[in-house]
Amino acid sequence: MTPTPLSYLSSAGPAAAPLTRLAWGLGGVSVAVTVIVALLLAWGLWRRRPAPGAPDSDLEATGRRGEGLAWIYIGLSVSIPVLAACTVWTLFVLGEVMHPAQEARLTVQVTAHQWWWEVRYLDPVAGRVFTTANEFHIPTGEPVRVILSSPDVIHSFWVPKLAGKMDLIPGVTNVTWIQADVPGRYRGQCAEFCGLQHARMAFVVTADSAAAFETWRARQLALPSTPPTPAAMQGSALFQARCASCHTVSGTPAGGIVGPELSHLASRKTLAAGVLPNDPPHLSAWIADPQAIKPGALMPKVPMTAAERAQVVAYLQSLT
Ligand code: CUA
Repeated sequence: MTPTPLSYLSSAGPAAAPLTRLAWGLGGVSVAVTVIVALLLAWGLWRRRPAPGAPDSDLEATGRRGEGLAWIYIGLSVSIPVLAACTVWTLFVLGEVMHPAQEARLTVQVTAHQWWWEVRYLDPVAGRVFTTANEFHIPTGEPVRVILSSPDVIHSFWVPKLAGKMDLIPGVTNVTWIQADVPGRYRGQCAEFCGLQHARMAFVVTADSAAAFETWRARQLALPSTPPTPAAMQGSALFQARCASCHTVSGTPAGGIVGPELSHLASRKTLAAGVLPNDPPHLSAWIADPQAIKPGALMPKVPMTAAERAQVVAYLQSLT
């Protein structure tokens, strides 16, 4: 299933539905205002001016027999109630999406980095906490609490089908919630300009059935299996030597926290925050020269021969 596009004109959950109705409603009002103003303007242009020498012909339109001024009173008496109604509706919608109808059972902590997303699943049991990046799963039909923060600059968390935008601000912790009532893959995007690769700071929320979500969670909690081939084994050693100071693979000495957690990298569909498909050729190209693909990304070009890179790719592909 391909991710649904970034459209806010339809929604898939109760945190987004009132916003979608508001967007259509305010959009309709705006279109009506534009059409009415355009028609009145056309009518005003079409109407003949008083002939030169006629009474009042030297006065501004608003001064002539009071008729121009009347239109201003009509305009105000129509627009003030409409704008007031739109304001009240907006306030009601903000109240409506503030909290979910039921208490969220699941909490994920999302940390925005230049330019990727760290997603940590919190749990009262320490052994059930795990971290992933850029692609995360939620169970369908229930609210999920999302705690938002950023260590570098201001980003914005936006999954248009599931909820409105919420900023991630350094030094501030914001809380929002998402809920998908229809299983599927929902595209998310950073919605606040945050530097060179802002446009390529995407993520995907997959809404699973309850059983599929538990399967996914169990998989994420499991330790990666031993490298299955000699090449992957070599790659594992290379990874520990060259990559482990930035990346974590659970169950191994690799514990870097600068870059995305890679414990189950092969279970993800994309690389580099939605920029590349996750397959061996793209993974190899990404490791060979991240700057060529995502200029400004904080991942450096790590010196490696083509043979060594193939071994590292074989190892990363084994992290299912
Ligand atoms: Cu992060 Cu824009």
